[in-house]
Amino acid sequence: MAHDHLIEMLDLDAEVLHDYHRDLIAWAGREAADHPRIVDLGAGSGTGSLSLARELPDAQVTAVDVSPEMLAHLRSRAEAAGLSDRIRTVEADLDQPWPDLGPADVIWASASMHHMADPGRALASAFGALQPGGLLVIAELESFPRFLAGTPDEEVELRGHDAAAKRRHEAGLHMHENWGDRIAQAGFTEVTERHFDIDLRPPLPAAATRYAKVTLHRMAHGLADRLSPTDLADLEKVITTLPTRADLSIRTERTVWLARR
Ligand SMILES: C[S@@+](CC[C@H](N)C(=O)[O-])C[C@H]1O[C@@H](n2cnc3c(N)ncnc32)[C@H](O)[C@@H]1O
Repeated sequence: MAHDHLIEMLDLDAEVLHDYHRDLIAWAGREAADHPRIVDLGAGSGTGSLSLARELPDAQVTAVDVSPEMLAHLRSRAEAAGLSDRIRTVEADLDQPWPDLGPADVIWASASMHHMADPGRALASAFGALQPGGLLVIAELESFPRFLAGTPDEEVELRGHDAAAKRRHEAGLHMHENWGDRIAQAGFTEVTERHFDIDLRPPLPAAATRYAKVTLHRMAHGLADRLSPTDLADLEKVITTLPTRADLSIRTERTVWLARR
């Protein structure tokens, strides 16, 4: 269940935040070598791999993930999009010594670096897998999407986010790290940081309602033991109102670092 919803949420993130993903890939594409060999770390359902292969028609992409379920979904999306000849998948736990993923011209890690048990070691492995002059791209979430800002239900959503942040912290996830410093410490140069402040106002496309539904549903289920019964009941009630609401917005912040080996 958890993975199904995560896959759907990641796919919807790509669809609804299309402009952000397109801007990011255009930026990385300008900095990348011609015919880049790209390694997508923690590729998940394929948001990065598919967009990279689509937007950079000369690219070859290696999608790496620890989850066979994610990779199976990614392969079926690549097949459907006619991109499977340029996207291969590698199942690997990046907390373990890495398989041979190089030589790579671009290493791309979107919302995955914070999952690494030892990010310093992962960055050192990324450095080792990149060609000299190769490009590192790290994208991280500064804040998870909020849909109810400025509505009467804003507070319950915020309490959900606070509880989720505590849970992530306790699980040892490396959120809100100073990735610029870490990247430089791993030996990369020309570290550039760009902040994306995403603020989509109504009316939103239909996919945004599905995105809100699956995100808030995951929140309610994931935090069933953390939120008060009142907050849980309120969240469930909010979810039932989503299809008919005209006041949803999407606010989320992402930061992206580019650097060179
Ligand atoms: C939040 S998802 C991000 C997916 C994708 N990069 C995106 O932007 O939509 C994080 C992904 O990292 C993967 N992951 C987490 N720990 C990992 C590890 N140790 N080795 C490989 N993949 C890992 C998870 O399976 C998941 O697919």
